Amino acid sequence: MRRLELSIERLSKSGDGVAEVGGRAVFVSGAVPGDKVLADVFEQGKVLRGDVLQVLSEGPGRRAPLCPLADRCGGCDWMHLTEDAQAEHKTRIVTSTLEHLAGLGTDAYELLPMVTSPLPYNTRRRAVLHPVKGRLGFFGKRSHTQVEVELCPALTPPLESLPGELADALGSALKDVAEVHLLEVAGEVAFALMARGALRPKHRDVAEQLVRDEVVRGVVLVPGQGKGNPELIGDPVLEDDGVLHRPDAFAQANADVNRPLVQHALEALGPGPDDAVLELYSGNGNFTFPLAAAARSVLAVESSTVSVALAQQAARKQGFGNVRFVQGACETIAEGLAKESERFDRLLLDPPRTGAPGVGTWASRLLVSRVVYVACDPGSLARDAADLVAHGFVPRTVRLFDLFPQTKHIEVVMTFSRGDAAS
Ligand SMILES: C[S@@+](CC[C@H](N)C(=O)[O-])C[C@H]1O[C@@H](n2cnc3c(N)ncnc32)[C@H](O)[C@@H]1O
Repeated sequence: MRRLELSIERLSKSGDGVAEVGGRAVFVSGAVPGDKVLADVFEQGKVLRGDVLQVLSEGPGRRAPLCPLADRCGGCDWMHLTEDAQAEHKTRIVTSTLEHLAGLGTDAYELLPMVTSPLPYNTRRRAVLHPVKGRLGFFGKRSHTQVEVELCPALTPPLESLPGELADALGSALKDVAEVHLLEVAGEVAFALMARGALRPKHRDVAEQLVRDEVVRGVVLVPGQGKGNPELIGDPVLEDDGVLHRPDAFAQANADVNRPLVQHALEALGPGPDDAVLELYSGNGNFTFPLAAAARSVLAVESSTVSVALAQQAARKQGFGNVRFVQGACETIAEGLAKESERFDRLLLDPPRTGAPGVGTWASRLLVSRVVYVACDPGSLARDAADLVAHGFVPRTVRLFDLFPQTKHIEVVMTFSRGDAAS
């Protein structure tokens, strides 16, 4: 390990500051272009990394973070930047990643104005907490460390003080807990307790007490692998805009930005009343129901059994007869549909961070004329965008949605149309 003064020149695609030392890039978490920092520089595998000891002079856009845990907690890695600087850096990460990994410069698509979060703090309606020294907390800036959290200003107001309250309520039962998943939907709160092994009577007692005291509306108790089935205490199924949520299934983190995200994806895909839509990675139906209202039919594919059950329940409740949910791996199901020579007019996909390797083949073999790709990882998006382009799809628009203020994370919607189809 060496202690060095570093000048941060740019950002990496994963949001770290990058300095050059002896012709090698050093990746410095929490540093931004224009910073001069004193850092401990060390090898991690083949990569040089720097841990900031002191910011010697500040790059433009730096500010004092609002949260006292900001220098240690990994939850908000960009709280030391103004919102304007965050927007500028996020845009640069996305455009430069598309350029470097997919060969798509900003002349290859229309970059639409970014949709920012109406609130800078109190935006996250879901969070995963881990037991830390008898309390609950988040991963630290370096992922092998963890930070206890009592109150978190990134969480929505009904969740903000729950890390401390739940740790108090769980007490000694925390040692058998692997994770706690918090969820707030339209002002109602539920959580999932992921046990390390079998569920304990104390887990049930605490959950029942919290429901009786109206601290939460419901709890899902999830035993460790092979140790039984989940148990529901109270009513942990929460509803928003016709979509049903549960804390042990995926939900978009920022409700205020999710609405314009869904609206834009729908407009960009533009399904007409005669169109058949294939939706991959459909979760609980966040995009599915608006699509079903506009299209002839939607086939929605999702791996989580909990999400598929919630989506089917919501579809029945809303009376959608033109949606079919299939539970399984998108890769297998998309391949199967292509082999059976199925045809779709439009494809919408919203994969996890790993992206959707193979999407170019699926889209071309299923003969879709338009693809809307909702991405939470710019690197995976760029790889898959290059694949779509290689299969004859033309990029049209890129739009950023700031679902995760105070972090380096960004949601991107990229639209493609088939080269020979009308745009
Ligand atoms: C980013 S979330 C999007 C969910 C939904 N579109 C929404 O907006 O709430 C990705 C979803 O893909 C699902 N998933 C992850 N890997 C999958 C796979 N290989 N096949 C099918 N679904 C998968 C996850 O369970 C999760 O619901």
